Amino acid sequence: MRWDRAEFVARVREAMTIYAEAMGYSPSVVDNRAGYASGHADRPGFRAVAAVDLDGVLLGFGYGYTSEPGQWWHDQVVGAVDREAEEQWLRGGLELCELHVTPTRQGVGLGRTILLRLLEDAPHPAVLLSTPEGDTRAWRLYRSLGFVDLARRHLFPGDSRPFAVLGARLPLAATSQEPPGDA
Ligand SMILES: CC(C)(COP(=O)(O)OP(=O)(O)OC[C@H]1O[C@@H](n2cnc3c(N)ncnc32)[C@H](O)[C@@H]1OP(=O)(O)O)[C@@H](O)C(=O)NCCC(=O)NCCS
Repeated sequence: MRWDRAEFVARVREAMTIYAEAMGYSPSVVDNRAGYASGHADRPGFRAVAAVDLDGVLLGFGYGYTSEPGQWWHDQVVGAVDREAEEQWLRGGLELCELHVTPTRQGVGLGRTILLRLLEDAPHPAVLLSTPEGDTRAWRLYRSLGFVDLARRHLFPGDSRPFAVLGARLPLAATSQEPPGDA
């Protein structure tokens, strides 16, 4: 389901609990992260999607907003990509800020469904994201949807892991295949 700004802010702590579990972070990051994420809901182009079970329990979520100069991630990525990529990809792009599924429900198509719903009808020319390098489920998902490299092995301040910056033109071209069990 789509979340508007108020719905997102109301459940942001639950969402950030899933974020911490999915990323393997300590629960102590939740409050701080919830504060940041609530602020993101005021950014232009904000859009969010949640997956819940029949009892309304949150299983996963994704959100993003228009990437603009002055935002931390945007300014970091401008430094990581060449001028052409900046002009062709970053301008007006949708930054996929978070996409996470609770660990016990990963790998059955929820993340893909959330992402496709989030990108459906997005007015942006492209979607952009960064993800840690490695053979992860996130990588397989993004590649299966046609995301291409904008930068590789980029180091963000405060994180020792190298990240890839990936992008895909919108509307997505590679969405015809459905994951197993989702047909
Ligand atoms: C990344 C994440 C959001 C993906 O959500 P998910 O529900 O687990 O993933 P999905 O099942 O929708 O999609 C990924 C899987 O579907 C497969 N898949 C995707 N599209 C497919 C298609 N058209 N046909 C067949 N399989 C497909 C992928 O290969 C992958 O399967 P695999 O890991 O068994 O190889 C989730 O795994 C997660 O929260 N991970 C930890 C946190 C994280 O890394 N977040 C992203 C940070 S950038």
